[in-house]
Amino acid sequence: MDSLVIEGGNRLRGSIHINGSKNATLPIMAAALLADGPSLIKGAPHLADISSLINILLELGMTCERLPNGDLALEVTDTKPCHARYDLMRRMRAGICVLGPLLARRKYARVSMPGGCAIGDRPVDIHLRGLRALGAHVELEAGDIVVRADKLVGTEIFLGGNFGSTVTGTANVMSAATLAEGTTVIESAACEPEVVDLANYLNAMGAKITGAGSPRVIIEGVKALTGVPHTVIPDRIEAGTFMIAAAITNGEVQLDNCRFDHLMAAIDKLRSIGIIVERSGNGCTVASARRLEPTSITTQPHPGFPTDLQAQFMALLSLADGNSIITEKIYPDRFLHVAELARLGANLHKEGSTVVIARTKRLIGAPVMASDLRASAALVLAGMAASGTTTVMRVYHIDRGYEKIELRLNSLGAKIKRVDQKELEL
Ligand code: EPU
Repeated sequence: MDSLVIEGGNRLRGSIHINGSKNATLPIMAAALLADGPSLIKGAPHLADISSLINILLELGMTCERLPNGDLALEVTDTKPCHARYDLMRRMRAGICVLGPLLARRKYARVSMPGGCAIGDRPVDIHLRGLRALGAHVELEAGDIVVRADKLVGTEIFLGGNFGSTVTGTANVMSAATLAEGTTVIESAACEPEVVDLANYLNAMGAKITGAGSPRVIIEGVKALTGVPHTVIPDRIEAGTFMIAAAITNGEVQLDNCRFDHLMAAIDKLRSIGIIVERSGNGCTVASARRLEPTSITTQPHPGFPTDLQAQFMALLSLADGNSIITEKIYPDRFLHVAELARLGANLHKEGSTVVIARTKRLIGAPVMASDLRASAALVLAGMAASGTTTVMRVYHIDRGYEKIELRLNSLGAKIKRVDQKELEL
């Protein structure tokens, strides 16, 4: 198992290319199950989660090939397999995205129910509610969700829940509705850019979807979809993480291939604490302010502040000149990074789903344990700002969502080494 050993205190300078979005690529790959003919996914990042979904799609009768230029070629060659097994699904929750496409194209799907994970309970009841509304019969058999429908029929569907809408649930229902008979209206759809990217891919394949990116999405069913080439949007969470990397190291970094409009809430917060963020080229430059103002953040569905940047902002705000507050409204238990950041000297007080971040003079390197993808990113960021050496253990979590993170940060001036955990124990 790998660890990252970080020598803190190096300012980041230079430019970095932001990769294609993991969370856009995953539902798009699953939606390729709906199509006749090949699809080419350009910009699909090289990440553990993408490999895990490739393994699921291979078992579902699809060919998946990485071309030398990095594009991902996908084509259905066998429409009979319908079972996404537990030992593949348990590696990655986004495997649930195959449920809607399989049901719509193959009339039957058996997909292992995803379990909870380090960021809390992650139910799929709203996905199932949406598919039921389209006419699917849904039951749970031996831990698998089994859905069947001879045909799906368009209808009005409400996809809101206690914590807002659902991103992958909207992807599932929208994808399934493309091949339903008649018109489907999704109310309280997720508005995330990844949903818009999926709708653009589906429309290019022949679907008739309007309104994606707003809470009301209208889908007129069509008879068939044909595979197409599609370039995925830049990863807004990776971009946000690199912005914070520049800010927390007192650096100045140019981000290429970064959609400003996808990151307005995070940019607004960075600016409010004194970080300079300016559009430039096809991205932006981020420069630190030396003195960070405190702020308060509440995570919300898009276009609000993204939960996937909450941990990274906590690392940054631990160095602000005053008390900050972060409230988590999407995953109330997504705080495993709190105890680890405290090991580096962050002054954090958690009360329910709120954390007060009091001023600390400096962070001091220490061994820490990564618990989930974004928490690991926060620990790497804090380690770069800390004095001395920080060792982040169990970094397989970070490899799920950030490609070659240490090499890319090192290209900007960081000093991070990947080592096998066993080497550390010698
Ligand atoms: N929810 C329900 N019922 C459902 C579905 C969701 O109650 O049927 C709740 C969840 O428990 C949560 C909220 O609704 O409280 C939002 O969950 P959502 O379904 O939107 O999350 P998701 O689609 O499973 C995606 C991203 C996550 C990101 C969330 C929120 C992908 C593959 N994953 O998950 O990304 O945190 O949206 O924006 O798109 C990450 O990349 O690190 C990550 C966890």
